[in-house]
Amino acid sequence: MSKPTFYITTPIYYPSGNMHIGHTYTTVAADTMTRFKKQTGFDAYFLTGLDEHGQKIERKAAEAGVTPQAFVDRIAGETVELWKLMNIEYDDFIRTTEDRHMKIVQKIFKQFYDQGDIYKSEYEGLYCTPCESFWTPTQVKNGCCPDCGRPVEPMKEESYFFRMSKYQDWMIKYIEDYPDFIQPPSRANEMLNNFLRPGLQDLCVSRTSFKWGVPVDFDPGHVVYVWIDALSNYITALGYGTDHDEKFQKYWPADVHLVGKEIVRFHTIYWPIMLHALGLPLPKQVFGHGWLLFGEDKMSKSKGNVVYPGPIVERYGVDALRYYLMREMPFGADGNYTNEAFLTRMNADLVNDLGNLVSRTVAMIEKYFDGVVPAPNDWEEPDKALIARFEALPGIVEAQMDKLQFSVALSEIWKLIGECNKYIDITQPWVLCKDEATLPRLKTVMYVLAECIRAIGVYILPAMPSTPERIWQQLGVTDDALKTWQSVQKFGQLKPGTVVKKGAALFPRVDIKKELEAMAAEKEKAEKKAEKAEAKAEKKEAKNEEKKADDGIATFDDFMKIKLIAAKVIACEKVEKSEKLLKETLDVGNGQTKTVCSGIAKFYSPEEMVGKTVVLVNNFAPRKMAGQVSEGMLLCAEDPDGAVRLLTVDGDVKPGSEIG
Ligand code: MSP
Repeated sequence: MSKPTFYITTPIYYPSGNMHIGHTYTTVAADTMTRFKKQTGFDAYFLTGLDEHGQKIERKAAEAGVTPQAFVDRIAGETVELWKLMNIEYDDFIRTTEDRHMKIVQKIFKQFYDQGDIYKSEYEGLYCTPCESFWTPTQVKNGCCPDCGRPVEPMKEESYFFRMSKYQDWMIKYIEDYPDFIQPPSRANEMLNNFLRPGLQDLCVSRTSFKWGVPVDFDPGHVVYVWIDALSNYITALGYGTDHDEKFQKYWPADVHLVGKEIVRFHTIYWPIMLHALGLPLPKQVFGHGWLLFGEDKMSKSKGNVVYPGPIVERYGVDALRYYLMREMPFGADGNYTNEAFLTRMNADLVNDLGNLVSRTVAMIEKYFDGVVPAPNDWEEPDKALIARFEALPGIVEAQMDKLQFSVALSEIWKLIGECNKYIDITQPWVLCKDEATLPRLKTVMYVLAECIRAIGVYILPAMPSTPERIWQQLGVTDDALKTWQSVQKFGQLKPGTVVKKGAALFPRVDIKKELEAMAAEKEKAEKKAEKAEAKAEKKEAKNEEKKADDGIATFDDFMKIKLIAAKVIACEKVEKSEKLLKETLDVGNGQTKTVCSGIAKFYSPEEMVGKTVVLVNNFAPRKMAGQVSEGMLLCAEDPDGAVRLLTVDGDVKPGSEIG
């Protein structure tokens, strides 16, 4: 008989170098769930990947001086390495720049268009040129971009829109009829009350102002915008729309999409509507988990409160970090990460509770029975209680895991560990060993403990995949049949006569105060290294630019390559990290702005810059200067004494006017 299937996905990640432990949260959860499902007899399929298109990528690649494809290729490599480090075993890793994905996205887009779900119109909004993002009036802060703080301008762009409004009533009814579809339930109410009932807006699904996306094949100039591209990954990875759609037939609909709470809306409104429009069944569940916070804030690079997994894994092992992530916060709620909380939990749960139980038991079997697991005798009350707990646990763990309540499942497993430790205190093997008459009792106690520990290895495997084998090695368990979910249903599977062998402590005890200091010092060192690397990269880039400059005689064609325009300085400030640089925000016409850094701080104050119409070299690739992105160069005259004066345009001329 074929196994039941279980299809689970994480969101596809935006390619950002240096992923932090918040990023690993969804993926560790999905991996834990997949391992659990595989363990309990399912044909589980786990998909993750990267969301590689969009203007931000195009821009970051330009800043790094590489093509967008080279940029995402590098980060894809780093991401795969990170998942290896975190012991993530996915079944497929999809990248939205792959042919298998892009072709089907084009097909889906065309089908929506042919069906009349997509129409062409104009996107109107407040635009931030440096971030290349549209904002709504409510998102804008005092006329400035909520992301970078620079002024936004009203802009229009031809775009295709998806008629979401047409499906609004159907969507409301679906969410009401299927209360399990969105979990936790509070997120369903949020979707209904904040987005669906007030009226669903049509969604902008194509753009013309950037190129790095899936081209709309029937309308050159348009690329598919974000969500149709990104969300489709869940079905394109399975071969949907191709002649080889066996996986799609087998695994769709997904059993669960795991997503962070900020993208629940896209997964529980837009995605279901798209699927419905394609005539496909909806995923059975979308689970919106909380955020890993650092203090009050979401962990993020821009807030400077990031914790990276690499150093933690290196110091304490991957299972310690995976355990913390799955145990510390109830899945669904936000939770805090601090190094102190991590170390405290590691010492308490892993070193004391689990590690000690294993090392004490193995040591006692070695001491009292020459390392051979004895056969048990008659059961007494404490044995019976522990055996009852042992046999009840599979059902309890399964029920919690099926609700994705990882932390509750682990706390139930730790209750068994706690009861084993209590059992040692109650039965007092060190007293039983002193008298021949109590030897049969000692045998029973040792057998019960060894059998419980064997089972604990099975239970912790999904969350902590590399620890069980280390436990079983110490216990002498080599038979794979004793490592299965089936083998923990009934107490008494471990064979008396098994030979144990004490090994290294599963988790080394740490001095929390000392470790905190060491972790802080390491962080500082890593930050300094990163700063240095950034400065070095900037210098190298600047040198390359200089090298590129032609020192021969310029031809007319050379001159025509340089695009000079008149630009008006609308804001100006000093660059914090530099004594030389001023940062100017320039009106470059057509409602657009650009930011430029110039080495004129010694010669002009920011106030006297505002209002000047200057000459801008408008077609330089953006480059970083003192941590700022500069999008061009202002022309200046430098006299032999080194004084610098700006070239300005005489009289009234419109910003954006060409100079030549
Ligand atoms: N590319 C989109 C998803 C498209 S899915 C069709 C995206 N990418 S992301 O890289 O920004 O986020 C990926 C996942 O990481 C999200 O589920 C997000 O919630 C999660 N996390 C990022 N930072 C996090 C924390 N600090 N804590 C917990 N999860 C966090 O969104």
